[in-house]
Amino acid sequence: MKPRVYIETFGCQMNVADSERAATGLRESGYDLCDSADIADIVLLNTCSVRERAEHKVYTRIGEVRAARPNDRNLMVGVMGCVAQLEGETLFDNSSGIDMVVGTRATDRLPVLIERVREGEKKVIDLGERDEGQEAWNVSPVERHSPHVAFIPIIEGCNKFCSFCIVPYSRGRERSRPVSEIIDEVNKLLSLGYKEVHLIGQNVNSYRPRIEAGLEQFPGATPFCRLLRAVAATGMPRIKFTTSFPRDFHPDIVTAIEENPNLCNWIHLPVQSGSDRVLKLMRRGHKRDDYLKRIEHIKNSSRRLALTSDIIVGFPGETDEDFQQTLDLVRQCEYDSIYIFKYSKRAGTPAAKLPDTAPDAVMKSRFLELESVQKHSQRRIYDSYVGRTLSVLVERNSSRSHNDLVGHSTCHKVVNFPGESHLEGEIVDVLVTQAKTNSLYGKLVNRSSVA
Ligand code: 5AD
Ligand code: SF4
Repeated sequence: MKPRVYIETFGCQMNVADSERAATGLRESGYDLCDSADIADIVLLNTCSVRERAEHKVYTRIGEVRAARPNDRNLMVGVMGCVAQLEGETLFDNSSGIDMVVGTRATDRLPVLIERVREGEKKVIDLGERDEGQEAWNVSPVERHSPHVAFIPIIEGCNKFCSFCIVPYSRGRERSRPVSEIIDEVNKLLSLGYKEVHLIGQNVNSYRPRIEAGLEQFPGATPFCRLLRAVAATGMPRIKFTTSFPRDFHPDIVTAIEENPNLCNWIHLPVQSGSDRVLKLMRRGHKRDDYLKRIEHIKNSSRRLALTSDIIVGFPGETDEDFQQTLDLVRQCEYDSIYIFKYSKRAGTPAAKLPDTAPDAVMKSRFLELESVQKHSQRRIYDSYVGRTLSVLVERNSSRSHNDLVGHSTCHKVVNFPGESHLEGEIVDVLVTQAKTNSLYGKLVNRSSVA
């Protein structure tokens, strides 16, 4: 029997995409993939290091996996992803349950590394120091997280070095994927029946391939704008992209969306704070006003574009006054939703040296206050969808009610509605009849009245 591998994924979409890539390579090399650590010969934890708590989870999880099978000497446990890249050898020092450490830049070498452990080598480690362009990005449809929606990494790493963020260290410098590879992947997914792709990267709008061959015939203010138009021209029914970085967010992105119906109505543009003083300490490279100008442009679009953001509360030195400015900005931007994070000190980042980290109680109360302000705007926005018809890609049966289907609108809202399973994978029109806090509920309608 083929050895079975279980990959458990933590963190962002990039990690999901890496796990899909790892699974593809492993299956090609003769391994089977399975859905549970309990029946696996090899357990791989694809880790996230963006916050301290996520990092601690790795050790807890290794303990659980080992404790479930205390006498199984053949069970192999590997750590891959951002924690692996950052911690390297120290993972072996901190836990005796690890056989292998595989950094973010060595994902495509997993089969060789696993082989080395199986041959008896101890503490196998690869943090992959190779050059750009040598990695295998190939992903088999079998390994995709959904048969309808696919993640396509277009840029890896980050050059922005925001003072709080570990990503430039865990994922390295920005590397853009060649245009031809991206377009080929979209076309392949199209022929397989995929209805939606997400172009993903830490900063998609910083996309800057070494060679632009394949983009010449597409207009656009930046390579990313040209790429958006090129991907739209493939005819893929729905295209989303995340995450955008405010400083590099060119207004032409909005124009590209307006010109192409298959570029979806959703922009994720993290602001992190509403205070110029804090933004400067965060080294974000944008001010509150720069950000608001971009938001104004997005809000003035002829298409109704949903807007989401990330915000950190309790950044070192954040005063009540700074926080009030964040609350004020959130009210002003009327986000469709936001992700709120309590600041987490990451060793090795410049912010880790800053004094005056907010006490837990302050952090918690700011988190709750911001959440409540957002809930208020969100209520209004979600309510405003009642009576409108949205185009929804049906992704699966709802886990809550057997008679309901669930999918996403082009404005990236979760939409539930009663319907039969054969609609899975179809794009349908749903009339919204009810708004909940984080989702919409509706009923199927005919194709005529799309909003
Ligand atoms: N502490 C808290 N939140 C963080 N993020 C990144 N680094 C940290 C940190 N050290 C958040 C940012 C980013 C999102 C992916 O994670 O808001 O946009
Ligand atoms: Fe981190 Fe800033 Fe890069 Fe985003 S832009 S990944 S927050 S360093």
